[in-house]
Amino acid sequence: MTEAALSEKNSDAPAGNYVAAAKLVDLEDDQGLFVELEGVQIVLFKTEDDGVHAIGNVCPHQGAPLAEGWYEQEECVVTCALHAWDFDVRTGQRVNGPESVPSYDTRIVNGIVEVALNNI
Ligand code: FES
Repeated sequence: MTEAALSEKNSDAPAGNYVAAAKLVDLEDDQGLFVELEGVQIVLFKTEDDGVHAIGNVCPHQGAPLAEGWYEQEECVVTCALHAWDFDVRTGQRVNGPESVPSYDTRIVNGIVEVALNNI
């Protein structure tokens, strides 16, 4: 699916439903993939068994993009590139602190990663 097709599909989706975000094959094992859906910055992380987690892209510390952080797939943790805060990509919760980023449900349909925007 082209980016234009993904964008068109997204704009047709009513709020609160799953919207197409990316092709599963475009996700790498050791790097998050940034997407913007309905104006919201989200980063996708691929799991070891080809699942996907989606969390907010903006670090709550000083706003660095978590898509540029270091991702440990086995641990399901992304480390912010700016000051090394760790976040569990399954929940969006900071590992050693009370802060968090939003977490979104995902599903994969015919190789397309879809993200639920119901908590936006
Ligand atoms: S901006 Fe992410 S840890 Fe400081």
